[in-house]
Amino acid sequence: MLIKNIRIVDDSQDFTGDIRVEDGLISEIGTNLDGDSICLDYSRQEVFLLPAFTDLHIHFRDPGFTYKEDVKTGSEAARKGGYTAVNLMPNTNPVADNMEIVKDVERRVAEVGLIFANQTLSMTKGLQGQNFDHLNELKKNEILFITDDGKGVNDDATMEEIFKICKEKNITIMAHEEDSRYSATDMRKAENLMTFRDIVLSEKYNSPIHFCHVSTIEAIEAIEKAKVQGVPVSCEVTPHHLTATSDETNHYRVNPPFRKQADVDALIRAIQNGVVDAIATDHAPHSAEDKLNGAPGMTGLEIAFPLCYTALVKSGHINLQTLVKLMSTQPSNMMKLNKGKIQPGYAADFVIVELDTPFTINSNTFISKGKNTPFSGKEVCGRVLQTFRAGDVYPQN
Ligand code: DOR
Repeated sequence: MLIKNIRIVDDSQDFTGDIRVEDGLISEIGTNLDGDSICLDYSRQEVFLLPAFTDLHIHFRDPGFTYKEDVKTGSEAARKGGYTAVNLMPNTNPVADNMEIVKDVERRVAEVGLIFANQTLSMTKGLQGQNFDHLNELKKNEILFITDDGKGVNDDATMEEIFKICKEKNITIMAHEEDSRYSATDMRKAENLMTFRDIVLSEKYNSPIHFCHVSTIEAIEAIEKAKVQGVPVSCEVTPHHLTATSDETNHYRVNPPFRKQADVDALIRAIQNGVVDAIATDHAPHSAEDKLNGAPGMTGLEIAFPLCYTALVKSGHINLQTLVKLMSTQPSNMMKLNKGKIQPGYAADFVIVELDTPFTINSNTFISKGKNTPFSGKEVCGRVLQTFRAGDVYPQN
């Protein structure tokens, strides 16, 4: 297959040209390529081709909460939003705290066939914050990430032991930093104290940690300092924490919560300074009833790119190449995937986007079962038109 005359942007190049795809991989890039029977010519369209996105942090709710989302609707929502690879959180029912569940979820997503999914293993048994015997059973390199996402591990000694095991088995901790002893009274303190503690432990054992959905100025500045000192830390921020404050969203419930403008500014500064490794959605679908009962979180896969494009690129904070790096190249590298760049040998995973025409987000049009978002009604630019995976296009027309 040949894709012709399209503006191609990845983290290291921006040119108008052609891409040849063979056996699901990019075989050649350049200008004036010819000779293939299937040829998609974009010369009359004002569109861009980027490497398809990779999301380090999402919830498919499967098994156990499939009334909120399941592997099929989640995969479709991902693909519609421009994603071909995702990293699933383990707060399912049963919790993904053993390799049978991990493998079963990965197999079922593969059967749907729209995206690649890595299922994370929980850090503690049943997400209870105490028992971590299951980690001792893992072989070295058997799993990429462990996480108790949705909860922090309050106990310092437990966390210290987990860091030691992760060093030995080459596992990266993905940390939801929230000390629940402070959740009811001070969510800023809850995030900051646990972030500071885990930087100390990561440094002590030279054991890697990835901070999920960083949201405060204090946490991101501590992470920046740790990076400068060579501590093996990485971090992600969400589209929602980059684009809105608690005031604008009327304190819409999400963990960590929407913060203040000074926090948003600090996160954007950290993106500009290269401190942030990835933008991850924390796609957290819930039913309307669960939201009314206080469930935290929002659905994100189908609006991540337009939200980020509008708030970061269109507003002039960063260029499109930097956004590609954060939504595709770097998270793909962290998941050890052969994607995220438009280069021969990489997967033919692309997203075609149109950047100029404004549109209004309408959660009723989401494929995801979760219609929960405070951004319905918001005007944005950056529409995802098509997502290719290994050369196959979605949607097909
Ligand atoms: O708001 C959130 N919702 N934050 C999390 O960390 C978990 C997520 C969920 O699972 O609903």
